[in-house]
Amino acid sequence: MMRKINAMITGIGGYVPEDVLTNDDIAKMVDTTNEWILTRVGISERRVLRDGLGTSHMGTKAVEQLLAKTNTKAEEIEALICATTTPDYFFPTAASMIAHNTGCINALTFDMQAACTGFLYALEAAANFIRSGRVKKLIVVAGDTMTSITDYTDRTTCPLFGDGCGAVLIEPTEEDLGIIDAILKTDGNGLAHLNMKGGGSAFRATHDTVDKRLHYVYQDGQTVFKHAVLFMTSASIAICERYGLQRDDIDWIVPHQANKRIIDAIAKRLGVEDKVMVNIQKLGNTSAGTIPLCLWDYEDKLKKGDNLILTAFGAGFTWGAVYLKWAYDGQKA
Ligand code: UT7
Repeated sequence: MMRKINAMITGIGGYVPEDVLTNDDIAKMVDTTNEWILTRVGISERRVLRDGLGTSHMGTKAVEQLLAKTNTKAEEIEALICATTTPDYFFPTAASMIAHNTGCINALTFDMQAACTGFLYALEAAANFIRSGRVKKLIVVAGDTMTSITDYTDRTTCPLFGDGCGAVLIEPTEEDLGIIDAILKTDGNGLAHLNMKGGGSAFRATHDTVDKRLHYVYQDGQTVFKHAVLFMTSASIAICERYGLQRDDIDWIVPHQANKRIIDAIAKRLGVEDKVMVNIQKLGNTSAGTIPLCLWDYEDKLKKGDNLILTAFGAGFTWGAVYLKWAYDGQKA
């Protein structure tokens, strides 16, 4: 009888740039205060990638660390998927640049754009490459240079975002471990509330699009906030119900880091306030990067067999939840 192949994460790498942008720095640019940002969003500081560098720079560093930590040869990687909304260029993809920089010369590569939900979409795609038996070693690298599309004259969005990338190695297993299931959703009504219109095929880059500041994130914060709480909660509950997971069965919730108040609301509704990964205070919202960067930060606390629920929400709207059975004991670096 053919055994069922599952896909499991077998290592994590990460990279955040050295340059720190504090709330006080932001208060020098727009009419805001450290206190407002801390209490309304829960962010103290975020990292900023130097001008002249793109997302592939961070992705390359994250993948290099991942390959070193897992003793993996770059040539063994058969697929590399990059989840990002801020690739270096429209084309070629960030994935092709990262694969080139890291020596992953045998990998099929593509970018996956699902905004802040990108890591979850990429994880599901990756899991299916592995489950099919076609691919044995795959990397998902996810993250964004959000500061490159942030308007530092708009106080309602500029405190929120930061830069960073995480990367995970995914391999097959016949054990009951790894990426067990995903619920991934889309509602195109979200377009009006969260977008960046300039520079695409509808609003081609012109002096006018620049003057109208269309090359920056636009967000209707309150609408996005409400949907984020509702949809991340409902997706997480739905996937738990599918597997009969009770509150005590869950070891960690790993939510997208957009606002500490959103994270707290989800944790409260799920009744798991003491099992939530949070690093928004030091990194802000790195879009597709938030979930792998949380896993990277908390790796040493993870144990083989731990039940993790990853959940995200972003532009589209896109959102979802992934049920993951962690596959190895994390070690202190
Ligand atoms: O990753 C993609 C998904 N993104 C999200 O999930 C983000 C969701 N949205 C949010 O996190 C929040 O809506 C924000 C952090 C963007 C805004 O927080 P809020 O509590 O929803 O504030 P608000 O928009 O209701 O504004 C409240 C007040 C307003 O003043 P008035 O009209 O009450 O006088 C704003 O003008 O806060 C004002 N305000 C600020 N004050 C100081 C807005 N931004 C700032 C600021 N500093 N930076």
